[in-house]
Order: sequence, then structure tokens, then C-alpha cells
Amino acid sequence: MQVSSKMSIFQSSQVDKVMALTEAAKAAGRDIISLNMGVPFYPLLPEIATKLAANLTRPDISFYTPFNGRSDLRAKLAEVSSHKTGRKVSPEEISVTVGAMAGLFNVFLTVLDQNDEIIIPAPYFYSYRQQVELVGAKAVEVPLELNSQGAYELPLERIKKAINKHTRAILINSPHNPTGAIFSEQNLRELAALVADKKIYVITDEVYDYLSFTGKEVFNIASLWRDLDPYLIRCYSFSKIYGITGYRLGYLQADKALIDKLYGVNMDTVICAPTIAQELVMIALSEPELPSLAKHIKTLTANRSLMMKELDQSPELFSYIIPQGTYYMWVKYHLPISSYQLTRRLIQKEGVAVFPGTGFGEAGEGFIRFSFGGQAAKVTEAFARLRQSGLK
Ligand SMILES: Cc1ncc(COP(=O)(O)O)c(C=O)c1O
Repeated sequence: MQVSSKMSIFQSSQVDKVMALTEAAKAAGRDIISLNMGVPFYPLLPEIATKLAANLTRPDISFYTPFNGRSDLRAKLAEVSSHKTGRKVSPEEISVTVGAMAGLFNVFLTVLDQNDEIIIPAPYFYSYRQQVELVGAKAVEVPLELNSQGAYELPLERIKKAINKHTRAILINSPHNPTGAIFSEQNLRELAALVADKKIYVITDEVYDYLSFTGKEVFNIASLWRDLDPYLIRCYSFSKIYGITGYRLGYLQADKALIDKLYGVNMDTVICAPTIAQELVMIALSEPELPSLAKHIKTLTANRSLMMKELDQSPELFSYIIPQGTYYMWVKYHLPISSYQLTRRLIQKEGVAVFPGTGFGEAGEGFIRFSFGGQAAKVTEAFARLRQSGLK
């Protein structure tokens, strides 16, 4: 078989390997508890599902929408974006995408040329690097730092040093997968000041912005648009918030001129985001309140406490920084083996699936990522298995 040289980019994916290990263990009859997947425990919220079901037979639901998304949805998303950024956003600055993944890929194709560099704070969501490399650009990993209060933050000095004439963009994901960090307003203001006037795109990945355990709204660097425009590109996803990872819907907000370019990419790759998912999000955004979402966030908050309690019982094995957002726990383990070896052992011997830290870039060696997005009972059972295993 002859395939393009680009395919070599995918060979090193540890996430794929771990998924394959998990599937093989399941096929061999092992009962595996999955604490690895980045999916919430809840499906589509019932308030939305009922209304969506009533519209399923509407003829337009079966057909394409405009390339950049339905105009009423773009108008709604412009309203939402105005609230998030503190300035009036117009529908022409919005492009509806096939989840955040397609949104990000469209952006990388649009702004990165061969050998351009994009700075990515590490550890990071594993697909960023592959997408960047697919478009022929270079992902420059810059490890996060711990500040004096023991919280993860963007390493401004390192970022400053990493910037050179090839630097085209920096990617900011807050709340952050996999550490659960929410970068502070001061940290983000300093970053904005650092890149302002340098013609460097600031690309935000805001997938988890609804999930903050701090009691405060997440500070969005996009609210500093005055310093960053027209170099600001926001990427959002509805996958996690509404429990719809399979529906595939997100959107981009950027300068109108840039959206016009992104339009072409959307048109020639996917035509449009799924019409049914656009209908779903239109319904969701038109609801004044979503009580089931509020309930689920409470459950996730309780799951987080539960997982911390479980981890705290084995301080000789595990340590961690308390996550401020997302449903991930980025855990340092105190064992003399690689994160991949530990993950393999946990899957094959203990029947507990996690992700190895190195699946999130080189900075992740020595860590594993647990997800507490699943059922509380599964968390308890997984840690009972780990304690019984005599892991040392
Ligand atoms: C940080 C981050 N960005 C993007 C995605 C993918 O989002 P979507 O389902 O909208 O493509 C994920 C999924 O886990 C994620 O964690």
C-alpha cells in the first residue's frame, strides 16, 4: 500500500496505542473501567432532546445549510460571543464548524504555512500537534510552570524566548486539558501584552469554559480583544457542555476577513456542519435555563472531590495539583517506570484505563491523566482495584 508521507505523523500517537490496548483487553474478556476518555457521563440534555425530537421530520433538517452555518444560529452565536468578549461581535465573524477539531484544523490550514511555528503550552490536548504537522507547520512545546501559589500558569519567559521570526501563533486552552488549570487573569493579561503588536495569532480552545470549580467565571483572554484584534481566533465546542460529542458542533469567531477564508475551507472539506446539530444548539441557546446541566455540573464537582479523596489515600503513589476546571486530574506518580508502561500495566493487570502523560507531549512523562467525567461508582471501584493491586 502506498500512502502519503504525512501518514507517518499518526504513527507515534500514544492515545491510539492505549485505545488499542483497552479494546484488546475488553475483547479478551477483561472488565475495564475507563477513566481515560474525555467524555461526560451524561447524554444530550432532556430539555433539548424533547424539542429536537419534535423537529426531526422538518424537511430542512435533512439538507445542507449555508457553508458557514445557519444564519439564525450565527446571529445567536454572535450574541453569545459578544457576551464572552465584551464587544459587539457580528454574525459575519462566526463560522459554524464540525466540532472544535475541524474548527482548529481549518484555522491551522488558514494561518500556518510550511515551516511556520505555533507555540503550544505543554502538556496539551494530543491532536494539536498532529493537526499542526499535517499542515506542514511546527508545534513548539513550551512547558507550563507552577507559580508561587502552586498553580499551573503560562510560562511567559519561556514563551518570550520561543518567539522568533517563524512564530505565527500561540494556542491557549483554558480551562486546560489535561491539567485542569484555569490560567489567571493576570497571567493572560501579561501574555496578551507580550504578543500584542507582534502579529502572532492567539488561538483559544474554550471547550471547557463552562466547567469551573472556582466559583468564578473563567477569564477569557478574548476579552482583551482590543490588544489582540485582528489576531484573535476563538474556537468553541458544544461537545462537552451538552453531552453531544457525537453530534459534532462548534464554532469559530475571528476577524471577518479571516472568516471569509475559513469559509472556503469549510465549503471544500465538509460543506457544512451537521444540520441536526445546528438545530440542537439553536434550541439549547434559546432555552433561558437548562436545569439538568446545572445538576450535572454539581455531580461533576462531587466526582472531583471523590477522586481527590481516593488519590489522597495513596500519597506514596500519587500527587497532584487540584484541578480548577475540566474533568481531568493530572497526576504525578511515584514509580520508576514510564507513563506508557504504567498505563499498560493499569489496563492489562488492574483493568483500569487511564491515559499516559506522554500522550500529551514530552512534558507529560511521569504523569497519568484520570478523567472524573464518568460515573462516581466507577471511580470508587477503580481506586479499590488500584489499592488491591499492591502497586509499588
Ligand atoms: C481541549 C480539547 N479541545 C478540543 C476537543 C475536541 O472537541 P470537539 O468534540 O468539539 O471536536 C477536546 C476533546 O476532548 C479537548 O479536550
